[in-house]
Amino acid sequence: MNESTAKSISHGRIANEIEAGSVDACRLIRLPVFEDSRGALSFVEGGRHVPFEIARAYFLYGIPDGAKRGAHAHKALQQLVIAIAGSFEVAMDDGRRQKVVRLDSPSVGLYICPMIWRDLLAFSRDAVCLVLASEPYDEADYFRCRDEYLAAIKERR
Ligand code: TYD
Repeated sequence: MNESTAKSISHGRIANEIEAGSVDACRLIRLPVFEDSRGALSFVEGGRHVPFEIARAYFLYGIPDGAKRGAHAHKALQQLVIAIAGSFEVAMDDGRRQKVVRLDSPSVGLYICPMIWRDLLAFSRDAVCLVLASEPYDEADYFRCRDEYLAAIKERR
């Protein structure tokens, strides 16, 4: 492992605090990369590279041209989104500000804190999106209606 990789790993140790509801808290996290003549290997450890323990992984694949995913926010769930193959965009919105991030590397994850409305779009044909999540699936944790989400964040502020 070279020095710059070691540095990115130590920067990956994130304090266990949740800054809910701000696109500023949604950030790119560089993952470790071990690369040699056999190819590359990256990994994620809960509580080390992401500020949560990993309770669930799910993946999106076979996404048709022009399709969009997401279109929801989570009340408490934290996630790390990784473009394991191909590329796509994640458009985030906290009710005040927007941020769009393009993911195209399996060694970079996008941390999304709770209470962020997100849309996933512009998937390449070969895209595989891996999502690591802090909790098991729970439909009650979703805002799928944007007006209800906006009302909830207004109430919090
Ligand atoms: P959906 O929320 O539409 O996916 P996306 O956020 O990518 O647009 O989920 C599609 C279906 O899959 C929906 O019926 C819920 C179900 N599902 C699970 O059962 N477990 C899971 O972990 C996830 C993410 C979804």
